[in-house]
Formats: sequence, structure tokens, C-alpha cells
Amino acid sequence: IKAESCGMVIFGASGDLARRKLLPALFELFRRQLLPANFFILGGARTEMDDDAFRRSVRESLAEAGSDSELEEFSGFCHYIAGSYEQPVLYEALKSRLAELEAGCLTGGNRIYYLATPPVLYPVITEGLGRAGLTSDAAGGWSRVVVEKPFGRDLVSARELDRALLRYLTEQQIYRIDHYLGKETVQNIMILRFANTIFEPVWNRQYIDHVQITVAETLGVENRAGYYDQTGALRDMFQNHMLEMLSLVAMEPPASFDGDRHRDEKVKLLRAIRPYSPWDMDQFLVRGQYAQNSDKNLPAYRQEPGIKSDSTTETYAAMQVMVDNWRWRGVPFYLRSGKRLARKVSEIAIAFKPVPHSMFAGLMPENLLSNVLVLAIQPEEGIALSMETKRPGPHMCMSSLNLQFSYRDVFGERSGNAYERLLLDCMAGDQTLFVRRDGAEVAWNVLDPILQQWQEETGSLCFYPAGAAGPEQAEALLAKDGRAWRPLG
Ligand code: BG6
Repeated sequence: IKAESCGMVIFGASGDLARRKLLPALFELFRRQLLPANFFILGGARTEMDDDAFRRSVRESLAEAGSDSELEEFSGFCHYIAGSYEQPVLYEALKSRLAELEAGCLTGGNRIYYLATPPVLYPVITEGLGRAGLTSDAAGGWSRVVVEKPFGRDLVSARELDRALLRYLTEQQIYRIDHYLGKETVQNIMILRFANTIFEPVWNRQYIDHVQITVAETLGVENRAGYYDQTGALRDMFQNHMLEMLSLVAMEPPASFDGDRHRDEKVKLLRAIRPYSPWDMDQFLVRGQYAQNSDKNLPAYRQEPGIKSDSTTETYAAMQVMVDNWRWRGVPFYLRSGKRLARKVSEIAIAFKPVPHSMFAGLMPENLLSNVLVLAIQPEEGIALSMETKRPGPHMCMSSLNLQFSYRDVFGERSGNAYERLLLDCMAGDQTLFVRRDGAEVAWNVLDPILQQWQEETGSLCFYPAGAAGPEQAEALLAKDGRAWRPLG
């Protein structure tokens, strides 16, 4: 990846996202000498502050991450501009500030605007930039805008947002970020499937019984009540991370690893998801919310600060997804994600069918354990394939064991923060790992009927004790098909 010289304007520079994700990622890129030779950061926010105060705050927030001299040098890239996003004067000031910094830093007029602000400000800031002539590629360099999720609340609002952005930007300038796509282990799904010959022949309904995708978190809502209570697990995790992972596991091989060919296949897959009908939705979906645990040391969601005591927002969702195409006809994909669960784990488990006939006396094929290929996304990073093996001894006894590969053991080095890779891609103008407009819309299209039904019918909310594996009803989702979730506890 060749990051081009550029300046990065971070709107929302004093916020949580900038402090916890963006600045640490940029600092790590700096330490690994991956930032472009000519580069600057211009933080923007409402808070009045000068460059020195901003630099101090950057050094403080990164204090654990590097030595004093590294922090000193890195903070030298940082500058600051204060203003109100609604006021044209901010963008006029930004224009002259950028001109000045670009002349000094030789970034050739290339700009990335990172919108690390609440989503209501996306159209406001884009309009401000556009009206001030700051989004056109004409001024000798390029301009790119990075937007964070949530990208709308449903299909209608996502389209509205697209229209607002596209008034001043082209799709090639819009980088919709989904940080799961920057994770090494998520990118490895493509390498595993398309750089090896042994998986593709069995990657279909003939050999695969079902697929489970899990993103379980132990954390609760933390300090994000305002955002989360308006959002819920479906919008927070499924519209983006979960459906992105599903599409990577299930899509057809793209002709090339090129922004559009790759994203065409993902969108095609999402379009093949069978729509839910209001009549049988309950059979395929579970919505849950965490309640207090029996030890009473973990609060219920409704007791968390800032959450309404009668909130019906889901902190857990599980769903069965059917993909109506030739490859996957009849293969269920079970997806679950929730907060305050028993263990932090993100994984994709591909469960193969049992052998068609057992030659082992007394053992029916269904009593032999089937192979399961687990793509461990985090915190374990690696791949495991469960296999039946002969146990040493005079009898034909079997044991299940795992063929395992762990990133840490093999590569030794840390996997970068997902933002590092994605920021570099944006500096290099590569949109492959960013969500395209039609991708975001088709994901809403899948979820909209569910969101609508859940809004009307709050009775379907199930409770699970904080720290448990999820609501009991989620077990029934698989039990009805004679299957079970992989244990979380
Ligand atoms: C974010 C969600 O997109 O992803 C959070 O808004 C969630 O609610 C987070 O905790 C999970 O990301 P990760 O990388 O920790 O699995």
C-alpha cells in the first residue's frame, strides 16, 4: 500500500473515537514509518484550544503508547482549529488554514476529512466543506471523506444521507468505514477461501451443514447510553460487522481484489438473503436484553446510567439467515451478537455435514462428530479445524482434536489496530475495504422489516442474566433444526 502525501482533518478531534482509535492508529503508523513523508493532522472541534494545547492533549492520550521523544515528534504533526460546525466561518477559516499548512508540509492539496462526529453532523459538515469549495478534487489534489457508522437508521434515512453527501462528493470520495473489515482475521477470510484450493470445492450446500457467526462481548453499554439506547444491537452490529462477515464467508469468488469487483460480489450475496415475512419472523429471530445477574454484581441494562427504565432496546440479537442461491440453498447461517455475555469472542464456525456412511461398527454417521472449521476473529486470532482421529491403542477408538494455527505463534507480531490498515487504504485511495453505497443500502433492506416489526411489537423482547450466554430462546432457534450453538460459557 502506498499512502500518498496528504493532510488529515479530523472533525470531532476531542471526542472518544479520535482519542481511543484514530490518534493511536495514526501514532502507530508513524512509529512503523508507514505515514506518508509529507503529512499533517488538523484536529477540528467546538472546544477552543490552540495548537499547543491540542498537542498536549494528544501526548497525554497516547502517553502509554510510546517514548517521550516519539510523542513529541508525532505531536509536531498535529494542529488544531476550533469552530462551530454549523457556521460557514469555520470552513472559511479551515480553507486558509489548510492552504497555509499545505504550503509548509508539501501535501499537494490532498485532503482526508474524517467525520468522527455524531452522524447528524455528516450532512452539515459536508455541506460546509462543499460550499467553501473544499471537497472538489480540482485544486491540484484529491479530497476524501471518511464516515463512521451508523450510516442512517434505516433504508430511507441512509438514502437521504447518501443524497446529502452526494450533493458535494462523488461515491469515489466517500469512505464508509466498518472497522471489522480492517481486522487481519477478517481479511484472512478472503485469503483462506480464494488463495487455497482445498476449501472451495467443499464450500457449498453439499458439504456444509450450517454456519455460525458470533460476536459476543462481555462489556455492557459503558458510557454510550445516549447512542446505544437509540440504536440497539441490530443497527450497531448486524447492519455492518455481522452482515459484512456473512458476505465474506458466503460470496462468490471475485475476479480480482479490486474495489469494485470485490464489493460487487458482497452486494450480490446480501441481495440473495431471503426476506423475512412478518408471519414467521419470530421463528427466525431472537431479541434480548440483559437483566441483572443472580449475584447482583452486574446491573440490568435498564439500570445502566442514562438508560430508560422501560427501554425495549435490544442488547442481543440472534437470527437465522437463509441465502437463496445455488451455492447455499438450504444451509442456515445463524448469527448472534450481544453485550454482557459470558465471554468475549468473535468467530465464524463452518460446520460440515457428517460422513454419508460409517464403516465403524456401532457408530452411525450422525454419532461421528462432524468437522468444524473455526475462523477465530478475536481475541484468539487463528484457524482451527476439528477432526476425528484414532486414539492410540488396540481398539478402534476415536478422539476429536483440533488442527490449529494461531497468528501469535506463527507471526509473532501484533495484529495492527483495524484503523491502521483502513487509514492507510484511504491515504492510498483504495476503497476495497470500505462499504459502498449499495452495500450499506442492501444491508438496511435486510434489516428494515425486522426493525419495523420490533418497533411495533415489543412483547418479543427476551431477558438474559448479565454474564450469561444469551436468552434461552436463542437456543431454540437452533434446537428446532436439531443443532446447538457453540458453547460461550
Ligand atoms: C462497534 C460497536 O462498532 O463495535 C460497539 O459500536 C462494539 O458497540 C464494537 O462494542 C465491537 O468492536 P470490537 O472491535 O471490539 O469487536
